Amino acid sequence: MAAEIVAALADAVVVTGLDRQVLSANRAAAELFGRPLDDLPGTPIDDLVAVAERQHVAEREHRAVEGEEQRYETKIVGAGGDERVVDVSTTPLVVEGELLGTVATLRDVTEEKHAQDTLARSEARYRNLFESASDAIATFDANGRFTTFNHAAEIISGYRREELVGQWFAPMLPDDELPKALAHFQKALSGETGLFETSFYRKDGDVRTIQVTYSTPRLDEEVLCVIRDVTEQKMLQEQLIQSEKMSAIGQLVSGVAHELNNPLAGISAFAQLLLSEKRFPPDQRTAAEMIYAEARRASRIVQNLLTFARQHKPERTPTSVNQVLDDTLELRGYELRVRGIDVQRDYDEQSPETMADAHQLQQVFLNLITNAEQAMERAERDQQRLTIRTRRSGDLIRIEVEDTGPGIPPNLLERIFNPFFTTKPTGSGTGLGLSISLGIVREHEGRIWAENATQSGARFVIELPIVAPRPTGEFQSTPASQPVTDRLHVLVVD
Ligand SMILES: Nc1ncnc2c1ncn2[C@@H]1O[C@H](COP(=O)(O)OP(=O)(O)OP(=O)(O)O)[C@@H](O)[C@H]1O
Ligand SMILES: [Mg+2]
Repeated sequence: MAAEIVAALADAVVVTGLDRQVLSANRAAAELFGRPLDDLPGTPIDDLVAVAERQHVAEREHRAVEGEEQRYETKIVGAGGDERVVDVSTTPLVVEGELLGTVATLRDVTEEKHAQDTLARSEARYRNLFESASDAIATFDANGRFTTFNHAAEIISGYRREELVGQWFAPMLPDDELPKALAHFQKALSGETGLFETSFYRKDGDVRTIQVTYSTPRLDEEVLCVIRDVTEQKMLQEQLIQSEKMSAIGQLVSGVAHELNNPLAGISAFAQLLLSEKRFPPDQRTAAEMIYAEARRASRIVQNLLTFARQHKPERTPTSVNQVLDDTLELRGYELRVRGIDVQRDYDEQSPETMADAHQLQQVFLNLITNAEQAMERAERDQQRLTIRTRRSGDLIRIEVEDTGPGIPPNLLERIFNPFFTTKPTGSGTGLGLSISLGIVREHEGRIWAENATQSGARFVIELPIVAPRPTGEFQSTPASQPVTDRLHVLVVD
């Protein structure tokens, strides 16, 4: 009866004698080993086990004989010589108190193992993909807490994953971005896929712009987000828009400015003519003077507009920045003295000459110094100080123009470089000074920005690359030693 049950079992059963030869086996075993059932009795176990596994199986069987039940995985030689992976469980066979050998049950798990391996391999592949992706990937549970976080996400956010997993994402977002992000999160939970842009705080406090693509592979479970840092891209885009805006405005402006030139020249000329008329009573003379002065002012504005609109490449000669600064200060000397502004020159005397357009640089410095003068208009007389600093740092010359005025509201620090941005009353500023300066500095492949000085007042910083004159001994039409002021009075409109 027992023999019949064993024979009918779906799992292979092998009874082994103490001599480690098969005593008997069932049909399933014969099928597993690919041998006729009758051939099995008397076959040494080693013949049935894969060569590499013989030692292992012998040890296990030995322990089973000693009374310790064994469960293990091994490889056997199956039909056609193929190795199969089997789960074995072996118990000692004791009949009427006498140890006869062992009974082993074998289950073929080859397919299962294979499937498992494939799964493990594909899991490893995905893990690899996940970890080495250049985009940040993060998943969130339904409550918006981080569940996974890849390496790129660590780099973009500045957080290590241990710090974030389990945390809610909201504190990383600025308050005004939060409602938008939450709305998208709701959408994601309801199964929608989507994309949005937001800013967020890195661990170091930096604000970055990110683009988030989200989806929910399984409804109401995890939200998967692919996150890309687009801060630089956005900045480039804005610069591009800005420069396109500038060039459009530039074209418009230069057309108008040219049109205005002739009538303005006419007004000036006729006003001068009236002024040369001796018979006019004083009040009429004053009126004529007014006409003349205002016409001149209009011409200056037009001149500014034209400079702003002009887009030629700078004409570069070896230029000493310190010298240009001195020349500019000299040009403003009268105004500065009259206003009682204390001028501090803090130059790096070692800074070398660089290839630059001295006229254009002078214009930049003039704009900055004029702005500084205007900013200090309301300050106490003995507290008006203009500091001009130059420093060499590596292959850059750094120029700082610092005043003791009220400084610049932080939200305006970027906008002041926009064309036509001015906070000065109509008539006194066109708002072009800084945007012209920005254009010139960029032409020189330099940078200019504004910051607020530590005490009070504004500081404008320019960094110019030090460009050595060409070593070919090429003829330079303007020797660098010639003071720039000599070449400066050519401010003819048009
Ligand atoms: N040193 C400074 N201190 C405080 N604010 C400044 C300073 N320099 C510039 N600004 C701000 O930047 C704005 C833009 O300056 P910008 O030189 O471009 O134009 P403007 O001086 O107003 O006019 P324009 O130079 O055409 O006569 C100014 O109106 C002012 O608000
Ligand atoms: Mg100005």
